[in-house]
Amino acid sequence: MKIINKEVLSDIQGTKITELVVLAPEIAEKARPGQFVVLMASEKGERIPLTVVDVDKNKGSVTLIFQEVGLTTRSLGRLNSGDALYALAGPLGHPTEIKNYGEIILIAGGVGIAEIYPVAKALKGAGNQITIILGARTRGLLILEKELKSLSHEFFVTTDDGSYEKKGFVTDVLAELLAKNKYDLVYAVGPIPMMQKVSLLTKGLGVKTVVSLNPLMVDATGMCGSCRVSVGNEVKFSCVDGPEFDAGLIDWDELIKRNSVYLDKEKHICRLNNPS
Ligand code: FAD
Ligand code: FES
Ligand code: MG
Repeated sequence: MKIINKEVLSDIQGTKITELVVLAPEIAEKARPGQFVVLMASEKGERIPLTVVDVDKNKGSVTLIFQEVGLTTRSLGRLNSGDALYALAGPLGHPTEIKNYGEIILIAGGVGIAEIYPVAKALKGAGNQITIILGARTRGLLILEKELKSLSHEFFVTTDDGSYEKKGFVTDVLAELLAKNKYDLVYAVGPIPMMQKVSLLTKGLGVKTVVSLNPLMVDATGMCGSCRVSVGNEVKFSCVDGPEFDAGLIDWDELIKRNSVYLDKEKHICRLNNPS
């Protein structure tokens, strides 16, 4: 699990996004779009889930892209090329159902942009016509623009501060597109409020919508229950039943509450470990 390449993709306004290429031949061989790994940066650290953004079967490597948001992602960001992860397990979760749906809108916000890349590549490969909408707080935080643009038939970017392309939110563009055209699938990854808004828009119009959720995960093997989510009238565990679900069936308010359960403790531990 040696890191063979590290690149900081973005480091502005206190937000750092880093790409790591890690040697993991068995995961590289098996991982499919939509799946994730669970890693430990160090022996005493916690386990965190990260999406497999790309694989190179010849090199036996997997590419991970992460935003530093707390203790574990910060300690991961301190590792360099040549260092090794303490542990890496995967691929986990169900892969995305890749087939020819027809016309698809893929929407991603923040580091979710990294998460749609493998899905966009595979859906394009299956013959779909892809429209992509990316959202970032500001221009400098936009990642993989060139790569995703090259896969798309239509391509849009929104920035919260108007520093690049359209000022506003991905859902503004989505609403305009849905008013003009019929789409066969909408696929979204990003902050929960964004996915919830996407779901509200598409549910009203009856457009099939899939979201990849990011609930808290601890063991990621279906045993601890921390990634529980209510989908329709059923309780699902995101790590083994997901991470993708039908957006229109998700109990978003419950998910938001569950995801902030440990926020105070996470902030406290982070302060203890980074007193400056
Ligand atoms: P903390 O301070 O512990 O937490 C900050 C916030 O991160 C929390 O409030 C919570 O919302 C979330 N979080 C914390 N612990 C976990 C956990 N064990 N599981 C899930 N979320 C947690 N992030 C990326 O940057 N890139 C990715 O490709 C990516 N893929 C993901 C795929 C899946 C299936 C899931 C569930 C999450 C993914 N995430 C991804 C989110 C990433 O796991 C969290 O940002 C990370 O765990 C934060 O840990 P921390 O200790 O640095 O921050
Ligand atoms: Fe424990 Fe999913 S992370 S059941
Ligand atoms: Mg943490």
